[in-house]
Amino acid sequence: MDDDRLTGTGRPIRSGRDIGRDGVSGSHRPAIRGVTFFIFFPLLSSCSGVQSALDPAGREASDVANLFFVMLVGGVIIWVGVVGLLFHAARKPRPHSEKGAGQLILWGGAVFPTVILAALLSYAVWLMPNIRPWFGEDVGVRRVEVTGEQFWWRVRYLDERGAVAFETANEVRVPTGERVVFLLKSPDVIHSFWIPVLGGKMDMIPGRENRLTLQAEKPGTYRGVCAEFCGASHALMAFTVHAMEPKAYEDWVVARRTASGGQDAAGLALFLRQGCAACHAISGTEARGTIGPDLTAFGERGSVGAGTLPNAQEHIARFIRDPGRVKPEARMPHFSMLEAAEIERIATYLKGLR
Ligand code: CUA
Repeated sequence: MDDDRLTGTGRPIRSGRDIGRDGVSGSHRPAIRGVTFFIFFPLLSSCSGVQSALDPAGREASDVANLFFVMLVGGVIIWVGVVGLLFHAARKPRPHSEKGAGQLILWGGAVFPTVILAALLSYAVWLMPNIRPWFGEDVGVRRVEVTGEQFWWRVRYLDERGAVAFETANEVRVPTGERVVFLLKSPDVIHSFWIPVLGGKMDMIPGRENRLTLQAEKPGTYRGVCAEFCGASHALMAFTVHAMEPKAYEDWVVARRTASGGQDAAGLALFLRQGCAACHAISGTEARGTIGPDLTAFGERGSVGAGTLPNAQEHIARFIRDPGRVKPEARMPHFSMLEAAEIERIATYLKGLR
C-alpha cells in the first residue's frame, strides 16, 4: 500500500525494524517537523479566532486574557530563576559555604517566590470585581435568560419588567458597549455557558439561576460552547454569538418582535400538518410548541442542530430525517417515514424564514 501521505516526505513508511537500523539518520527529521507542526500550529492558531479566550472581544474576556498573560510572565520569571540556579549549582566547582547556602535558601527559596506569588495574587484579587456578575438593581439592565437543554440552547430576551419579550435558540445577540446579564438555567443536567471571546464560563445547574455579566466591545460573530460534559452530544452543543452595534441590535429586536411565518403558505401548512408545531414555535403562526427550539427566523441562523451542521437546505433535511444520526441522543424523533420530497419541502420552508 502506498502510505506516502502518512510521512509527508514522498517516501513510504518503512517497518519499525528498518527505522531502528539506520538510527538517528535523516529519517527522524520529518517526525520532528511533524511534532513541531502538531504542537505549535494548534498552539498559535488558538491565539485568535471566533472562539479564543486570548483574542478577546469583550470587557471581561480582556481581563481574563490580561490575567493569563501576567500569570504567564510571572511563571516564566520563576522558571528562569529556578533553571538558572540549577545551572549555577551544577557548574560551581566548590560547594557553598553554610552561610551562602542559608542566604540562597532565604532569598531564592522564600523571598523570591513569595514576592512574585504575592504580586500575582494581588493582581488577580484586584481584577475580581470587574468580572463579578451584576447583582444590583435590574432596572435598565438588559437581561437574557439562557437555558441549557439536551443538547441545545433556549434563549429568551426579557423586557424591562422581566417578562419574556421573545424567544430564540442556539444564537445569542448582544449590543456592544453595554453590560448584559445572562440568567443561566437548566431543567435536567448540568451544562456550562461559555463565550470565550466575551468572558469566563458559568455553570447551568438544575434548580438554580446563575448569573453571568458580559460586555461585548468589538462587533462581530463569535462562537459559544457548552463547557461541562452533559451527555452524548455535549461536543455538539455550540451557539453563535452576534455582537452588534447598538443601532443594528435595536433594529434586530424590532424585526424579531414582529417576525412572521414567512410568505411560503404551502411550506407552513406542511410543517403544521406533519406535527412539527407540537414541539416548535414560529412567531406569527399557529406553531407554538415549547419542547424544542423556537424556529422563528430560522434561515438567519448560522447552523443546524446547535452548531452541528452549516445552515443549508440539505443539512436541515438530513437533520429532520434522522436527528439521532447527526446528534446522538437528541430528543427530537426521526421523521424518516415522511416522503423525501416532503422533508425537502419543510427544509426549504425553514431555510426561507427571516
Ligand atoms: Cu451541554 Cu455539555
